[in-house]
Amino acid sequence: MTAKLSLSKRIQNKNITSKYFFINNQNSKILNLFKMPSIHYIEFFIISLGLHIFTLFTYMAYYSDLINSNYFKDFQQEYDYIIVGAGTAGSVIAQQIATETNHSFIVLEAGGRSNSLFNMPVLGPFLHGSLYDWQFETLPQRDACLAMRDKKCKSPQGKIIGGSSALNNMIYVRGNISHYVNWFQQKYTKEYIKNKFKYLEEEILHLENVKYQSDLSDAILDAAKELGYHNNLGLDFNVGFSKAVVNQKNGKRWTSPEKSGFSTHILTNVLVNKIMFDRNKAVGISFLLSGKVNKILARKGIILSAGAYNTPKILQLSGIGPEQILKQFDIPLVKNLPVGKNLQDHVTTGLDLVQFDKPVSITAMDMVNPFHAFDYFFNGRGPLTSSGCENIGFLSSMNQTTPDLQFMVLSAGLASDRGTQLKKTVNINEITWNNYISKGLDKYVATILPVILHPKSKGEVYIQSTDPNIPPVIDPKYLYNKEDVNLLIRGLRLIKEFVETKAMRNIGAYLNENIFPGCENYDFFSNSYLECYVKHLTLTSFHPVGTCSMGLPTSENAVVDNSFKVLGVDGLYVVDASVLPTMPSGNINAAVAMMALVFFDTNIRLNSEIKTDIPFCFKKDRFYNDNSMLVCYK
Ligand SMILES: Cc1cc2nc3c(=O)[nH]c(=O)nc-3n(C[C@H](O)[C@H](O)[C@H](O)COP(=O)(O)OP(=O)(O)OC[C@H]3O[C@@H](n4cnc5c(N)ncnc54)[C@H](O)[C@@H]3O)c2cc1C
Ligand SMILES: *[C@@H]1O[C@H](CO)[C@@H](O)[C@H](O)[C@H]1NC(C)=O
Ligand SMILES: *[C@@H]1O[C@H](CO)[C@@H](O)[C@H](O)[C@H]1NC(C)=O
Ligand SMILES: *[C@@H]1O[C@H](CO)[C@@H](O)[C@H](O)[C@H]1NC(C)=O
Repeated sequence: MTAKLSLSKRIQNKNITSKYFFINNQNSKILNLFKMPSIHYIEFFIISLGLHIFTLFTYMAYYSDLINSNYFKDFQQEYDYIIVGAGTAGSVIAQQIATETNHSFIVLEAGGRSNSLFNMPVLGPFLHGSLYDWQFETLPQRDACLAMRDKKCKSPQGKIIGGSSALNNMIYVRGNISHYVNWFQQKYTKEYIKNKFKYLEEEILHLENVKYQSDLSDAILDAAKELGYHNNLGLDFNVGFSKAVVNQKNGKRWTSPEKSGFSTHILTNVLVNKIMFDRNKAVGISFLLSGKVNKILARKGIILSAGAYNTPKILQLSGIGPEQILKQFDIPLVKNLPVGKNLQDHVTTGLDLVQFDKPVSITAMDMVNPFHAFDYFFNGRGPLTSSGCENIGFLSSMNQTTPDLQFMVLSAGLASDRGTQLKKTVNINEITWNNYISKGLDKYVATILPVILHPKSKGEVYIQSTDPNIPPVIDPKYLYNKEDVNLLIRGLRLIKEFVETKAMRNIGAYLNENIFPGCENYDFFSNSYLECYVKHLTLTSFHPVGTCSMGLPTSENAVVDNSFKVLGVDGLYVVDASVLPTMPSGNINAAVAMMALVFFDTNIRLNSEIKTDIPFCFKKDRFYNDNSMLVCYK
């Protein structure tokens, strides 16, 4: 005991005289730092410094926007449409109303305005946990997130114009068109849905191939070929691998609001807390602006696009939700509906599972390299354009025709930023950091995420207070269903197959063979070991859906009908990730944006006089095929 104490004293004293002592004055942290070889120490210092400057910048941007928006609040008492949330769905709807109709409308957004620095793709993960993130976390999980502090996984969601699309990894995937046809109960054909996607790709989003790739990227494609997968996915959902297509322009993040010109119709930094009803008709909303309650009325409709966690929260606060929850808080019942149930998410695992002895992957030092900054700002190229994920693949763990897993290949891992930030945003606990992740600090790490495309486990979201500032309880019940655990285990075995291919061996890849803390009782890579591993290192790919599911009025989970109208209530629509009744086969941003276009088409376009008589045109296959062709339809 005394020996230990004096040792720590010695190190402490040494630290105080060292020029780095000001990084952190908590003894335990200094001790931890001191265990690192000095190169990591210097890297940690440089990256920390960069991050502190970035954090300072986010504070300045946030508060100057907040002050601005409080001085220049200008709104009317009534509009045709009110849109709650300027995220993926809300922005698309607003853009469409602004450009295609003469309706009056207003968008209310709880977050602030973005700025061009935030569009640097590599900074995306560093906005997690910032003022621009709702900073949600799950309830402690029974079968999952065991390696996280308090067994709680983080679930970031954008609180900013652009919503989660301002924080996301920008991967563009259409998914399986048949699923969308089923959601609408065959109301639309496959052709119609495909046309919506084409319009989205040509007119709203901007897509390009990833602008930077590490050596890992080609190696994975070669490995896929070796294993018999074809490595050039087309647009349609299929088994195979490909380089990622991303929502970027010249290597910079592209969020839909930028193109839209609806910025004069938007109030930022306002928290919508309730919908107002006249009997069963939604007539307006109330919101908090600098702590004061304000009201706005809607003549034609209220559109909730606040995302899969906040939309159910607003509905429940307004009296639409499960009766027993509303009773608990004495909220007068407007309509008993399963709001907040049926929560699903793309669950995954596998951070830092692939290692290298030489650099093939991005390191955080790349972020602070001035040459890379130059390349980014002047050429739109280089590592700073990277969202982390370079390749995606769809594969079947059972060798069937329908894929059940998506692979996302990241040339980085938790160790890549030397413990400065990602460790916190993933909420990894100290034991796991010290005994597993930090062992990758003197290696180079990569991550292949095996994402469950259609998880069987379902969770829920519900309010825990009538105070709109209190976040809802999020209980995703990750891995409650044993089939999900088994699928992730098969995914990990597939990753092992990939790592053992000639192509991956050639670039020096091997499996991280450190035993995961908490799983010491099992043989490495045995089924029981892998079960333990996935229950500990459970991750989300940030795709919560289903909390206000679309469905037939008679179906158990339905909250909205197939025209997005909340069941049994007039003038109220939900259009965002909450309405997706099942997970799309792939990253979901495109699906959410496509749904917003369908909503606009059926509920607004058809009921309004179109401003111009120019037919609806766009260039076909501009991105995927250079032989562009103009397609028009009415
Ligand atoms: C970290 C991360 C990475 C992702 N990566 C990808 C990817 O690579 N590819 C992909 O396809 N998808 C990805 N996604 C998913 C995709 O971005 C989201 O599913 C999509 O943006 C959801 O759109 P939405 O309209 O439902 O909600 P959001 O875009 O989240 O928008 C909701 C908006 O409503 C606002 N709001 C909420 N409550 C209130 C209130 N009470 N009052 C006023 N405003 C409110 C929010 O601030 C927000 O701006 C990712 C998501 C995250 C979080
Ligand atoms: C899948 O199964 C078929 C026939 O059963 C076999 O020829 C093929 O090699 C298998 N593919 C993989 C990737 O295992
Ligand atoms: C797409 O989904 C449909 C309906 O679930 C299914 O029949 C089909 O096989 C899927 N397509 C692929 C390529 O898996
Ligand atoms: C918008 O269209 C409506 C008809 O749908 C018309 O009555 C109204 O005058 C138009 N307003 C403007 C500003 O053009």
